[in-house]
Amino acid sequence: MTESAFVKKTKIFSHSLQADVVKNLLAYDEIESTNSTAKQLASAGAEHGTVVLAKTQSQGRGRFDRTWESPEGGVYLSIILRPQVSAEQTSLLAFVAGLAVAHTIRSYGLPAMIKWPNDVRVHHKKIAGMLLESELVNQTVTFLIVGVGINLNIESTAFSNEIQSQSTSVAVELGSPVEFYEFLTRLLLQFDTWYQQFLEKQYDQILSHWKTASDTLGKPVRIQTKGDTLEGIAIGIDKQGFLRLQTKRGETKTIMSGDCLYLRET
Ligand code: BTN
Repeated sequence: MTESAFVKKTKIFSHSLQADVVKNLLAYDEIESTNSTAKQLASAGAEHGTVVLAKTQSQGRGRFDRTWESPEGGVYLSIILRPQVSAEQTSLLAFVAGLAVAHTIRSYGLPAMIKWPNDVRVHHKKIAGMLLESELVNQTVTFLIVGVGINLNIESTAFSNEIQSQSTSVAVELGSPVEFYEFLTRLLLQFDTWYQQFLEKQYDQILSHWKTASDTLGKPVRIQTKGDTLEGIAIGIDKQGFLRLQTKRGETKTIMSGDCLYLRET
């Protein structure tokens, strides 16, 4: 089968990329989900640092079994990691990914902010999301998939009516598209930098940068977890990246993961 222009270009790009964490970059024109493909590859033994990139996804997945709309022009990628750390420590990898995405978007002059746990927004609209999935054996992580979806060169009209008013893209915000491989270079180099800090166990550094890049702390929020809805003020983040919430009753709750809605934007 002949290779598409996207696959060819990505191969050439991967040879010039100097990000330590990227060992192998696999490009596809269309697959169901880069996370699903990365999971299958990892289960079959794919090495740490394998990156799966797709031009478009037919069944892109978001958190809580939502669909991730994946029109052409977006960045859809998943990184297979096999870090030699305990399962507890891996929760900070969501912060590593969030910092990489937010800083990359900021490098284009856009005021990207992280919304706990895994969203990146610009002007209160979602521009990127992350989906982390892992396989554990006896409390040890055998592999972890960091899935990243970024609305890059996407027109607002390419989103469904359902999400159009809450979504934006880099091109919409800048008023013109950006060069795809330049963006990808910046993103993977950013990921490399933050991942290096993670390997060096600079957890406090990661947390403190995350707090600066996030607008969640101090806000009144509603958190939807798998079985509960909680409201209160987001008062802190603990060492594992869990949210500390002060409820109206004055109790402090620690929340591992959930959907976060700001009850007030400012
Ligand atoms: C969310 O905000 O709910 C997370 C969205 C994550 C989407 C990305 S796109 C690349 C990777 N493959 C998927 O199927 N999902 C993630």
